[in-house]
Amino acid sequence: MSAARTDTAMDLDTRAPSSRATRSAEEGRATRSAGELIADEGAHLAHTYHPLPVVVASGEGAWVTDVDGRRYLDCLAAYSAVNFGHGHPRLVAAAREQLDRVTLTSRAFHNDRLGPFVTALADLAGKDMVVPMNTGAEAVETGIKLARAWGYRVKGVTPGRANIIVADGNFHGRTTTIISFSDDPVATADFGPFTPGFTRVPYGDAAALEAAIDENTVAVLIEPIQGEAGILIPPADYLPAVREITTRHRVLFIADEIQAGLGRTGATFQCDNVGVVPDLYLLGKALGGGIVPVSAVVGDRDVVGVLNPGEHGSTFGGNPLAAAVGHEVVRMLAAGDLQQRARELGALLERRLTALIGRGVVAVRCAGLWAGIDIDPALASGRHVCEALAERGVLAKDTHGSTIRLAPPLVVEASDLEWAVDQLEAVLTELAGR
Ligand SMILES: Cc1ncc(COP(=O)(O)O)c(C=O)c1O
Repeated sequence: MSAARTDTAMDLDTRAPSSRATRSAEEGRATRSAGELIADEGAHLAHTYHPLPVVVASGEGAWVTDVDGRRYLDCLAAYSAVNFGHGHPRLVAAAREQLDRVTLTSRAFHNDRLGPFVTALADLAGKDMVVPMNTGAEAVETGIKLARAWGYRVKGVTPGRANIIVADGNFHGRTTTIISFSDDPVATADFGPFTPGFTRVPYGDAAALEAAIDENTVAVLIEPIQGEAGILIPPADYLPAVREITTRHRVLFIADEIQAGLGRTGATFQCDNVGVVPDLYLLGKALGGGIVPVSAVVGDRDVVGVLNPGEHGSTFGGNPLAAAVGHEVVRMLAAGDLQQRARELGALLERRLTALIGRGVVAVRCAGLWAGIDIDPALASGRHVCEALAERGVLAKDTHGSTIRLAPPLVVEASDLEWAVDQLEAVLTELAGR
């Protein structure tokens, strides 16, 4: 593979020192070759992913460097977990400082980082309380438990009958309860028996959602934009209608903002973009600043307050390292400039991608700095396009056959973004000429 670029304009506030990338790449090169490292994984790693053949050794801002020193523009940003770029100086400094103090206390004791973090996060979300967890799936599981407990203890649902409405095409994680309401056969086959208590309705159809509500319904759990499904954006009036319906039926509205939230769509939450406030926000990915897994459920006291000591927890949830990094993430989001950057760069991305419709691209869906691009299936699979992009120094990820998604770090330079679309355009032109 040929590296695409060696020059980028350095924004000192958003990039780590350049020696970091070079040093790590050299260390990687000195030990095992890319082929050997991939073979090691093939032999000893469960085959649960099908990665592109790129072995990343270091990262800096929106760029990563592989073990051979080739540079790639990261247009996936670890599914939005790296919204602030690789090695953001403020986040690295917060982590380093905390590494030298204390990293893990468990919740058996208090730590001096957790209180300030949850206060800031609750404030950012305009809510009262936080349940700190680690992975996104844990936040979803926590939201489900909260909704059920609220249903029995506050709403008065018959014990054992609580039901949650979810959407077709959803992706909320990989635990057994979460896959129980997935309609993706790859996610579910041979993993049953499944957890009952969920009803699936078409995504984007508020009338179908309302029709599914009965006396046992405790919550509606949806992604404000379906990321893994291919950046599916519901009609503009959908989330406001879900809010109105859930309020009227006394049902909780749980917004899974794990991928859509924290700046990606040009707002702190995608719900902000459509003027909606859910009862519970599920957050993850970018909350850990691309450094540590940090997730959370954020809501008001009347819902989150139903949990009592011993009913829920996590050894690592709310640890001081996670809290220190998460707090810095919240501080950065509270300033608002990253959201603005996502809006501005998102407009640029949408303009450039829309121009490719009819030239190898069938459809484009953009929300902030997040794009789902449907490639003409007659031309190539999404995987094939991603492989060709990687050859040209752009890392992106396919989903559902012919769709590719772009989610570069929000600190990406406009010129780098334009260059990435140039590479996509060149790949499509090449494919059309075959
Ligand atoms: C909307 C949404 N919810 C939950 C998850 C699960 O997060 P994690 O992989 O951290 O468990 C994901 C992961 O992609 C997601 O996109």
